[in-house]
Amino acid sequence: MPLLAQLAARRSAEPRELTAPPPPPEVLQAAAELAMRAPDHQALRPVRFVHVGQQERAALGELFARAAQARGRDAVGMQMARERAFVGPALLAVVARIRDDVADVPPHEQWLTVGAALMNLLNALHLQGFGAKVLGGSAARSEVVRRAFCHEGEQIACWVIAGTLADAQAAAPTATRPPAPIPRDLLGDWTPDWTPDWAPDGTPGGMP
Ligand SMILES: Cc1cc2nc3c(=O)[nH]c(=O)nc-3n(C[C@H](O)[C@H](O)[C@H](O)COP(=O)(O)O)c2cc1C
Repeated sequence: MPLLAQLAARRSAEPRELTAPPPPPEVLQAAAELAMRAPDHQALRPVRFVHVGQQERAALGELFARAAQARGRDAVGMQMARERAFVGPALLAVVARIRDDVADVPPHEQWLTVGAALMNLLNALHLQGFGAKVLGGSAARSEVVRRAFCHEGEQIACWVIAGTLADAQAAAPTATRPPAPIPRDLLGDWTPDWTPDWAPDGTPGGMP
């Protein structure tokens, strides 16, 4: 299949669609290295990935449970949070370090790098034959969990689960899983019909 068609066939896999074996270390490593090909102004490297192995899932579950408790959840809610640590044959934390002290690289540019890196990671997993999905959730925003993964100035941007697709067709662009429609104005030509007048306070005119 041509490369563009292969990339267009990528779909996020639901946790139930992912089975063992997980992507082996060399596949994860290649994906993380491709992630580093994201455009990165001043090479700040605002993203890194932390693999949570099977042996560590129980410890992560306890962290998730504590985070749920801190959000006021009862024992049932804590148990549900605990179980989320076992989702996905492979689990990565996506850790972002967004600096606000770099004059020429504002935070939004660094976040764009994080997103681009994430996309490269997903595409690399897909091209190597594995399914994956990005997950967020309140645990990613929990201070208890943050402290267990992050250095000073870092935060958990999201999680990535990955594994073998239980049904390879499920991740293909079939009629049952059509991609979301592409916006009509996705790619257009700029027509310079903005108002070139300047307001008295010096603000330029904008797009109509
Ligand atoms: C940062 C981020 C967090 C997300 N968190 C969740 C989540 O917690 N649960 C979920 O079902 N989808 C979540 N999604 C969306 C899925 O990862 C996925 O993009 C969506 O299901 C669309 O699937 P597609 O990639 O096949 O188009 C998140 C996406 C991003 C970018």
